[in-house]
Amino acid sequence: QTRIFSGIQPSGGLTLGNYLGALKRFVQKQDEGIETIYCLVDMHAITTWQDPEKLRHQTREAAAGFIAAGIDPARSILFNQSQVTAHAELAWIFNCVARMGWMSRMTQFKDKAGKNSENVSLGLYAYPALMAADILAYKATHVPVGEDQKQHIELTRDIALKFNNDYKVNFFPVTEPVIEGAATRVMSLRDGTKKMSKSDPSDQSRINLTDDADKIAQKFRKAKTDSEPLPDSLEGLAGRPDARNLINVYAALAEMTPEAVITQYAGAQFGTFKPALADLAVEKLSPITTKMSQLMQDPGEIDRILGEGAARADAIARPIVDQVYDIVGMIRSR
Ligand code: TYM
Repeated sequence: QTRIFSGIQPSGGLTLGNYLGALKRFVQKQDEGIETIYCLVDMHAITTWQDPEKLRHQTREAAAGFIAAGIDPARSILFNQSQVTAHAELAWIFNCVARMGWMSRMTQFKDKAGKNSENVSLGLYAYPALMAADILAYKATHVPVGEDQKQHIELTRDIALKFNNDYKVNFFPVTEPVIEGAATRVMSLRDGTKKMSKSDPSDQSRINLTDDADKIAQKFRKAKTDSEPLPDSLEGLAGRPDARNLINVYAALAEMTPEAVITQYAGAQFGTFKPALADLAVEKLSPITTKMSQLMQDPGEIDRILGEGAARADAIARPIVDQVYDIVGMIRSR
């Protein structure tokens, strides 16, 4: 039985990278009729300091973004992580299963901690064990993510296998990452060798789901590119990361293959391609932005949806975590 789980951190606004690499694909999985559970991981967000009011706002805004993009809270479970205590409980068990050496090899930790790893939170280090708990509290079989989360899913598999092995059970599934489509790694609009990220200091480097049509068009028109016309095949884009990124973004937005996009625009100058991309992006993203701001008019309704999702999530995760306590030998007598 296929069960999908995935999460997004509400540690900033949603970007085009989150949308194309994750959210758009979450909607597709839901629409295929698969059981889908989606989580705003507020506990992951605080591994780096968050202003409490902003965190609350960004969590609601991310929920609004999910719904505006097509997540239907009646068909998918949509909730924020901290409302379901199973995540924190299982994360502790996994802290005792995962090895220090495994965590030290996580490239996201190394990137985020930088040279000053003495002064980052313990939570940032343990982050992937909480992520494994998110997934395995539901015994999820498939996790759609962007390319940057691949290593964390591999760690989740290692934790599941070590748990099963240590306790001589066949309890947790070995989860598959689902990394599909033309935009599994959307790059910065200012530097095609860097990932588009909500934490980049330059707002010009990313498209935010809250950007209005003018802003979206302006950012694509100003996106960094070289001055060569587009080639007639993908091979011709080797060594041209900025151009390659824009082709991938176009492909993902238009639901075409990058090959088909390059065939359509073979020989075109960026003076032609960028406005076409800007128009396409506005056409696809503006309705989402508009719907999002409408939904944000009623924060109480968003909180209600998250609470209802949390109750449904808890009903799945609670018995699984109770079984885990039993497997590891903890007395449960009330
Ligand atoms: P986060 O919040 O950084 O990103 C959420 C999702 O968006 C994808 N993504 C991108 N995809 C393509 N191009 C980009 N530039 C880009 N930037 C982000 C990410 O790959 C991710 O799929 N650790 C996770 C959150 C998490 C989670 C989970 C995910 C917590 N628990 C359980 C799956 C399952 C994270 O920080 O994602």
